Amino acid sequence: MQRRISAPTLRDADGIVHLRAGGTSVVIDTTTGTVPAIVHWGPDLGDAPADELAGLARGIRPQRASGGLDDPALLTLLPQPGHGWLGTPALEAHRASGAFAHRLELVDARPASPAGLLIRLGDAASRLELTVEIELSDAGLLRQRLAVTNVGDDALHLQSLLAAFPLPHDQVELFDTTGHHLRERAPQRHAFTNGTHLRESRRGRPGADATLLLCAGVPGFGFERGAVHGVHMGWSGSHRLLAERTPGHDPVLLAGEVLLPGEIVLAPGVTHVAPWVVGSWGDGLTALSARFHDELRARPTHPRRPRPVTLNTWEAVYFDHDLARLTALAEAAARVGVERFVLDDGWFRHRRDDTAGLGDWFVDADVWPNGLHPLLDRVRELGMEFGLWFEPEMVNPDSDLAREHPDWILRGRDELPPVARQQQVLDLANPAAFDHLAARLDALLDEYDIAYIKWDHNRDLVEPGAGPGTAARGHRNVEAVYRLLDGVRQRHPRLEIESCASGGARVDLGILERTDRIWVSDCIDPLERLVTQKHTGLLVPPELMGAHISTPRIHSTKRHTSLDFSAGVALLGHLGIEWDVTALDEGELTALAAWVERWKGLRDLVASGRVVHADLADPALDVRGVVAADGARALMTVACVATSAAHPFGRVRFPGLDARRRYRVEALAPLDPAAEPAPSPLAWLQDPVVLSGAALGATGVRAPMMLPQSIVALTLTAVG
Ligand code: DGJ
Repeated sequence: MQRRISAPTLRDADGIVHLRAGGTSVVIDTTTGTVPAIVHWGPDLGDAPADELAGLARGIRPQRASGGLDDPALLTLLPQPGHGWLGTPALEAHRASGAFAHRLELVDARPASPAGLLIRLGDAASRLELTVEIELSDAGLLRQRLAVTNVGDDALHLQSLLAAFPLPHDQVELFDTTGHHLRERAPQRHAFTNGTHLRESRRGRPGADATLLLCAGVPGFGFERGAVHGVHMGWSGSHRLLAERTPGHDPVLLAGEVLLPGEIVLAPGVTHVAPWVVGSWGDGLTALSARFHDELRARPTHPRRPRPVTLNTWEAVYFDHDLARLTALAEAAARVGVERFVLDDGWFRHRRDDTAGLGDWFVDADVWPNGLHPLLDRVRELGMEFGLWFEPEMVNPDSDLAREHPDWILRGRDELPPVARQQQVLDLANPAAFDHLAARLDALLDEYDIAYIKWDHNRDLVEPGAGPGTAARGHRNVEAVYRLLDGVRQRHPRLEIESCASGGARVDLGILERTDRIWVSDCIDPLERLVTQKHTGLLVPPELMGAHISTPRIHSTKRHTSLDFSAGVALLGHLGIEWDVTALDEGELTALAAWVERWKGLRDLVASGRVVHADLADPALDVRGVVAADGARALMTVACVATSAAHPFGRVRFPGLDARRRYRVEALAPLDPAAEPAPSPLAWLQDPVVLSGAALGATGVRAPMMLPQSIVALTLTAVG
């Protein structure tokens, strides 16, 4: 991610370095005698005097106990066995001779920027040098990047290089997410007991099951409160995050790449730079995730113009590409207020279904005898932008590309890797394959007025070699994809790109550095989306999360949904439509257009406000929203996801408002059909109440009686 470090917040008092930014202090002791250690990561300590900082460092020095090493290990930035660390080591590497024992010691530590530190470590005996770059961003995110250099005269085999983040001892509850295609980011929690909780991707991409964060917090921490620290891996490939607690060491979060055996062999003089690992903390998950949102929003490349309402053709037509049908779809889309029309999979040569054609990035002349021009021209005439689907990294064995260049397919053996969706992965680290793809993308982007690419990636990488007998190149392929994206963006600066990977299987700060939104999930069932959007939102701000209104009979779950529920859930994202709107009658078109219009009135708030979630005791209810940075207005939704033990419902609270301001609370739209027989009207909705942020956050109002799978959206406007 682009660095945003500006405040002069680094102070070095006798080797104890104090970084301060974004309400966060990080204190690093460079006087440990071995490797520097983070001795505080959390609340801002103010202008702490030198003796206090030194006291902090002394206060956590370990103590010898029976049965252990005489000089027990302090948790440093590079915990190593040679320094007595008997947990997972930060560095594992060996030479052909078998030499494996390293003891990297401090060479020097110097400011690398006003709020960053470059720590150089070295071990003359094992002929290694290592740097740890540490930065504290304006938003209070703590970032680390490690790089190891082989200064010997023979090859160094690198197995593992992990960044270490210390945890407070009393944060004994772990939180992360899991999932699969159509159900990304389901939360899971368990006790952080002695042992290692390992979350690993060996898929060559993060995967639908990847956790965006591995967090440890005090028991029962929620979104609103409870101390919690977490780390994220800013990398779009295989990786591991682990939380480790052992009887003899301080608890720690470790994160780094998963490298396949022999994947990284450093020749003399060569350096391997690991990806950034990013840590955040907060009193509650809302505060923790706000740092990521602030950071992403501060990027120079962050999309700042109003997010265009999007219609994506996938669930409307799938592979049934037909000019007349798609033109009618574009016309109906324009009628309901759509601003970006995205032509999904199926437009290129041989692509009549998902068995063939991937790799053949030429417009299919049978289906599109005049190219995409007639459709694109009509889309532009209707005042919409045009977007196009690609899956550049993939190839169907049944394609001209695979027939012409079988050697461009990633494989570690003669046989191809196991098939997924009839496709294989291209070796983008192969310059010829890379250049070919870049040229095809450029040719299409030059020929057509394409404002947006939906960049898909629909399978895991298995045995990612350059052919039989070659070394693994998962890392190199991620770097190549980054280069490809960077090049395309540079050559087509107005282009926006969505990162899609069978839905949300590639969501990370590495890909987000070079894309403008992510496709959260192929499941657009609003009931499921409440969960996926909530937890994808731990990292990703709402304006970068594609949230589409669904067809009433949801394709992936076969549940039925109302337009109001689907639209209400999509409000807190980048709104789109995934529906054949040509089939709608006048009344339905009007209702859909009204939701599009409501969102347009709120999208600036969604794209800039602080995201909040209420920790409610009633699992039937969900309250979330965005509060404007100046506290002047907010959008909140109250969703009913199941029947409740309470009848009528209890109260709902609205967190995150300015406690001192008073807000008028109004429904954005008429309520969804309520329970039968109809409950009596709610006093506060009939005659809008004006309540302080403090009262709304603590006492709240009675939740409207709703059937499961319904929602009410509320606007809160500060008065006076
Ligand atoms: C997977 C994506 O997640 C879908 O939205 C769609 O683009 C299909 N691929 C097309 O093959």
